[in-house]
Amino acid sequence: METAREESARGSDDDAAQEDTTSVADVSVEVATVDATLNKLCRRYNGRRRRAKKIKKKNPILDLQNLAILITVVVFVIVVIMWSLLWVFIFRRESNSGVYFAGMFRVANVEFIPEYRHADSSEFVSMANRIQHVITSVYRTSSVSRLYKQTVISDLSNNNQGGVLVHFWMIFVVPHLKTPSVCEDCVSAILKDSVHMSLQNRSSVGFLQGLPVDIDSILVNVALRSDYSSTAVGSQCVDKLYAGVPDVSIPLNVFSSWGGLSCYIKLTSAPGSVIRLTVKSFRIDPSDCVYDALTVYDSLLPMRGMILYRVCESVSAPISLVSTSNVMLLSFRLTQGNKIFRGHFQALMEEQCMNTIALPAGPGDAGVITSPFFPSLLPRQCSCTWMFQMPSGALGVALRFQNYMLKLKDLQNCEHGWWKINEIIYCGNYIDYSTVFRIPAQNPEVVFRCSSRSADQSFNATYSSYNTSQPCPEGHFLCSTGLCVEKFRRCDGLDDCQDESDEMFCSKPPKICGGLSPLHPLYICNGETDCSSGKDEINCTQETSCSGVSYQCGNGACILKKNAKCDGLHDCYDRSDEKDCACGNPTASKRVSDSAATQQRIVGGINAMEGEWPWQVSMHFSGQMYCGASVLSDEWLLSAAHCFSKERLADPRMWMAHLGMLNQGSAKHVAEIRRFVVHEYYNARNFDYDIALVQLKKAWPSSLEKYIQPICLPAPSQTFTEGHRCWVTGWGYRSEQDKILPTVLQKAEVSIISQSECKRSYGAVSPRMLCAGVPSGEQDACRGDSGGPLSCQAHSGGRWFLTGVVSWGSGCGRPNFPGVYTRVAKFVDWIQRHIQNL
Ligand code: ARG
Repeated sequence: METAREESARGSDDDAAQEDTTSVADVSVEVATVDATLNKLCRRYNGRRRRAKKIKKKNPILDLQNLAILITVVVFVIVVIMWSLLWVFIFRRESNSGVYFAGMFRVANVEFIPEYRHADSSEFVSMANRIQHVITSVYRTSSVSRLYKQTVISDLSNNNQGGVLVHFWMIFVVPHLKTPSVCEDCVSAILKDSVHMSLQNRSSVGFLQGLPVDIDSILVNVALRSDYSSTAVGSQCVDKLYAGVPDVSIPLNVFSSWGGLSCYIKLTSAPGSVIRLTVKSFRIDPSDCVYDALTVYDSLLPMRGMILYRVCESVSAPISLVSTSNVMLLSFRLTQGNKIFRGHFQALMEEQCMNTIALPAGPGDAGVITSPFFPSLLPRQCSCTWMFQMPSGALGVALRFQNYMLKLKDLQNCEHGWWKINEIIYCGNYIDYSTVFRIPAQNPEVVFRCSSRSADQSFNATYSSYNTSQPCPEGHFLCSTGLCVEKFRRCDGLDDCQDESDEMFCSKPPKICGGLSPLHPLYICNGETDCSSGKDEINCTQETSCSGVSYQCGNGACILKKNAKCDGLHDCYDRSDEKDCACGNPTASKRVSDSAATQQRIVGGINAMEGEWPWQVSMHFSGQMYCGASVLSDEWLLSAAHCFSKERLADPRMWMAHLGMLNQGSAKHVAEIRRFVVHEYYNARNFDYDIALVQLKKAWPSSLEKYIQPICLPAPSQTFTEGHRCWVTGWGYRSEQDKILPTVLQKAEVSIISQSECKRSYGAVSPRMLCAGVPSGEQDACRGDSGGPLSCQAHSGGRWFLTGVVSWGSGCGRPNFPGVYTRVAKFVDWIQRHIQNL
C-alpha cells in the first residue's frame, strides 16, 4: 500500500518542483542530512502537497480560502507579537506607579551656614549629596531596594534645636501588586531602624551611616506626585522668604487673574523663633477646598501630618496662625478667576508660657490669661502653666471663658485642649457662650496643652478670686455653666444659664391672670389665649425692649408677638415680618390630610403625597440615599452636621441632592453640591450643634417651583408647643431592625416635648436640641432620616416652619425615648450669616 502510493505520487514530482521550490528544497536539505526514513517522510509530505495542489487546481475557491486563512494567521501572529511587545514596554511600565514620600529629619552636630538656604550654592550641593548618598544606601540595602528609585534633598533649614533640618523627597517605583510593601510606616521604619543608637549616651541622636541623626525628628509622609512635581527644584512657582529679624512684618501678597495656579511659598525665620502668618484678606471661590485652597504646613514640604490650617473660604476679618518651629509652607491652589491673597508674616521669639499670678483679695476681674500667641490660632503643640497665689485659704480662682468650656476628661482623648488643674485632667471644648470654671484651692497650678492636630481657635479667660463657701453673690443662683444669675430668673422660661440649668425642675408656670404679679412671659403674645379675659394677647405689636421672648423687626425694633414672622399680618411698623415669605406653603393640590393610613412606615408613618413636602430633599452619598435635608432657598439646603463631618463624607463631589421627589429615583431635579458649611462647634460626641448648610453648585430652576419650595425659617423668638402640628418626613428605615429603605417618602406626626421631660429620658440634652415624639414611641424618625425636616405648621392653614433637623435618638420608636432634633430657631443668625441674600 505504502509503496504504491509513493509511486503514484512520484509521477507528478517534477511539475510541482518548479512551483514550490523553496518548500521542497527546505525539506530536501533536511532529508539529505537525516536518514532514509526521513527521506520517506519527505516524499510523503511532498506527495500530500501535490495532491493538495491538484485539488486546489481543481477548486480555485478553496485555494483562495487557504490564502485567506494564511493571511489571517499571519496577521494574528503579528498582532500577538505587537501586543506582547506593547505590554512589556508600555503597559507593564504603566502598571508600575511612582510612590512619593516627603520626609524630614534633623542632622545633629552640624553647624548651619547661611549658604544652606540657597539650593544652588556649592555648600548646599555638597551637603545634599552627602545626605542623599546616605539615604540611598539605606534603602538600597533594605527589603524594598528594588523599588527604591531616588532621593531629592529639597531644603536645609536651621533647626531650633541646633543642627540642620533636612527636608527631602523619596521616590519609589512600585508595581501595583507590591504597593503595600512601601507603606508610609514601612518606609519610615526602615529609616528609623537604620539609625544606630549608642547605649551609653541617653540622647535621641544616633548614627545613620555615620551621619548624626536625631531619631525622634524622623518623619516620613506619603505625598502627592503633583506636590512633588510642583515644589521640586526647577518648579516655576516656588518662592522662598526669610525673616531674619523678629517682629518685623514682611508683606505677602499673591494675585492671580489667570487660571490653574499651584504656588508654594516657603517661609523660614531665625533659629529660636517661630513664624506668625497673618491672612488679612483672601478672595477665592469657596468649594470645601476642592478647587481653591490655601493650605498652611508646619514644615517646608507639603506633609499631610503637618497641616496647620486650611483656608477654603474667602477671608475678610484677619486671621493669624503660628508655626511650632522656624519654618512654614503656604500652598496655594487657585483656579480661574480673580483671586487675591493679602497678608504678612513675621518671626516671633518663642514664648515661655509660664506665669505666676498673685491675686488680690477683692472682688472683680483681676486679669486675663490667654492661649499662647493670642489672638492667633493655637499652635499645633504648646504648653502653658499658670500658678495662682491666693491671699487667703477661703478664696479660690474663678476663670471666666468667652466661648470655651472645661469638662472632666472621660475615656476619650481631648480634642480641643488638655488641662491639668490640681492634678485632675479636663478636656476643653468650644461653645458659643461663656462659662466660669472655679478652682477651690489656695495655690492652684493650671497647665494647658494644645491637643488638636491642626490649629484651633484661641481663647482667653478673665480670672478673679471668689469665696469658696459662697461662689455666687447674695441673691444669685449658681448655674451648671458656672455662671451666676439673679434668683428671680430661675424658672422664668428663659435660658439665662446658657445650659438651661436655671429652667430645670420647674413646675409649669401658673397662669395667674388677675392679681398683682405679672403673667409669666411665656404666656404673653404667644398666639394662644391663656387668660379668659384675653388680656395676654392684646397690644402684642406694641414696641418693647428686646429680649429672647420678643420678635425683632428689620429696623431693630422689638414687639411682644413671638410668632410674628410670615403669619399673614403686618405686625412690624416697617412690615419686615411679612417680607421674604415665599416659603412653607405647599401649592400642590392635596395638602396634608388625615386620610386613612395605608401603610405603617418611617416609624409608624404613612406614605406622603406628591407635593406635600416640597422642601424635602434626599441626600445621596456615592449613589446611595444617606441623609435628608430641607430647601431654604434656590441655592441652599439645611441638614445635619453628622451627615458630612467624617473625612470620607466631607467631599462635596461624592454627594447629590435629589429635590422635588416623592418616590426614590424620580426626582424632579438632581443637583451637584458646591460645599458644606458644618457648624464650627459641632460636637461628634454628644451631637451638640448638629447642623450644616449645603450649597448647591447651581440654583434649581424656578420652573420647578410647583414641586420644589423652601420651608420658612422660624424667628429666634418663635415658640412651638404641644399644640402645634408637627411632622417628621424622610426615606429612613421603618423600624430599628429594618433592612430595606422605603421608596415612598414617609411622614409621621409627632408632638413637641418639653425640654425638662426630654432631659428625664436622656439626661444630656443641650439647649440646641429639641425633642419630639409620642409617648408610646410609635411615631419617630430613624436611621436615614437624619438631616431631614421636622416641619411644624404655625396654625391651621398657616405656613410650615423648619422647627427641627433630625439628629439622634436612642434606637427608633422606643417608648419614652423621643426623637432628638436640632433646634433650628437657635441657629437663625448662624444660617443668615452664611447665606447672604436669603
Ligand atoms: N442619626 C440618625 C441618622 O443618621 C437619625 C436618628 C434619629 N433617630 C430617632 N430615633 N429619631 O439618620
